[in-house]
Amino acid sequence: MIYFKIGRIGETVSRCLFIDPHDGSISRKQLELREGGMMIGHRLNSKTAGVLIAGTFITMLASSLLAAGPLQETAQQKAERMAWWTEARFGMFIHWGLYAQAARHEWVKRYERMNDEDYRKYFEVFDPDLFNPREWAKVARYAGMKYFVVTTKHHEGFCLWDSAFTDYKVTNTPYGKDLIQPLVQAFRDEGLRAGFYYSLLDWHHPEYPVDRIHPMAENSSYRDQSRNRDVRKYAEYCAHQVQEILTDFGTIDCLFMDFSFPGKDGKGRDDWQSERLLKMIRRLQPQIILNDRLDLLDVPGGWDFRTPEQVMPRAWVEMDGQRVPWETCQTFSGSWGYHRDESSWKSIRQLVVMLIETVSKGGNLLLNVGPTARGTFDDRALTRLRGIGDWMHLHNRSIYGCCQAPPDFPPPLNCLLTHNPKTHRLYVHVLEWPMGRLALDGFAGKVKYAQLLNDASEIKFLSGENTAESPNTLLLSLPVRPPDSAVPVIELFLK
Ligand code: GLC
Repeated sequence: MIYFKIGRIGETVSRCLFIDPHDGSISRKQLELREGGMMIGHRLNSKTAGVLIAGTFITMLASSLLAAGPLQETAQQKAERMAWWTEARFGMFIHWGLYAQAARHEWVKRYERMNDEDYRKYFEVFDPDLFNPREWAKVARYAGMKYFVVTTKHHEGFCLWDSAFTDYKVTNTPYGKDLIQPLVQAFRDEGLRAGFYYSLLDWHHPEYPVDRIHPMAENSSYRDQSRNRDVRKYAEYCAHQVQEILTDFGTIDCLFMDFSFPGKDGKGRDDWQSERLLKMIRRLQPQIILNDRLDLLDVPGGWDFRTPEQVMPRAWVEMDGQRVPWETCQTFSGSWGYHRDESSWKSIRQLVVMLIETVSKGGNLLLNVGPTARGTFDDRALTRLRGIGDWMHLHNRSIYGCCQAPPDFPPPLNCLLTHNPKTHRLYVHVLEWPMGRLALDGFAGKVKYAQLLNDASEIKFLSGENTAESPNTLLLSLPVRPPDSAVPVIELFLK
């Protein structure tokens, strides 16, 4: 039986196909056309209600259509799509734009309430004459990073590529050349995967309505003058630009859309037209790994991973009681853009611990660099990236392909554990080197060999029954002096 139905708000229709009125794409939905225009998995209003087709025959057809595309994929398919990312664990974030010249935070336009004219000076002098993306890519690779994500446009609205939809772009500055293609090429050549950040906020675009965090938010006459701005036109601009960046630079592995702040005087998915963007993103780059800031947390396929920012989650991040993929993005010193005078830089050891702790909770770390306006990584960043790289050179086996340890291996005192399920090895990261012995409760009988990871030197051990410890305890004999590394690691070969 086949029948066609026009959906109306307030109706409940089970198992039917939904044809998107925007792009004609078809998907299966459990449709509950709730009051207020919401239905599960899709937001409806009278304009977008669309045509619903329901029926036994069509439902069968739907099942075969479902195989295709991340919007409808199974958990297993999603895990496979994300496998390289989960394996990689460590990436580089790059925040670069006109704000590098102010060198006092990428939000400087907002923080100092600058108008477009005040901010114009940066556009007029932007000239990163020392830009050499091959050097950046080499440093990222040395640090052990496997992918990178670069700001194609940040909140200031300035575009680092030669967009056909604006004049506010790098090719119109004194520098005069596209930055994105050479950067993507250089990092790919070093074996890193490519990712783009795109700001949904835009403090330059003439159709972007002033909201509560706009640089001119408190300026009432400016607000008055910009009363007629049309967010739909702005959303159209975003759609064109996202299409550009996902079309002109080959395969893009990850996309970081930033960010939604719905509510009073804010912006969310209706403003960005997020569902439309989502469909386009999934269509243009079906393998892409997408973050969670489009305000589509309740939409199937609306996000791939959560993004706790500048915080370390206490445990593996969950949604509705389920563990989900997550990536924490972190800075060296607090701001994302280059900041000349910030003195809160984390030490190399802190950063290494941050990476280990992230992996010990099943997450990824995206560590940010804010290049200078001349196109260089400054010495503070370079020293840290090299320091992390020195540690990674000897210890990356405890990071790549690793995850949280299984629950029957409780972390010993002052230690962080990671586990590689493929090689069946467990990594004990010793944050405070103990005197002579390390007791691993619950590990007795589960380990066949132990060594220091940095030099593969044997670590002898005894099981609890041969010691004064509990029979479940494994006792490692450690050298008195710890190995000379930011965080020593013991590699346990599990039975
Ligand atoms: C925030 C900030 C921004 C930064 C981003 C990184 O949303 O607005 O400056 O780019 O986080 O996650």
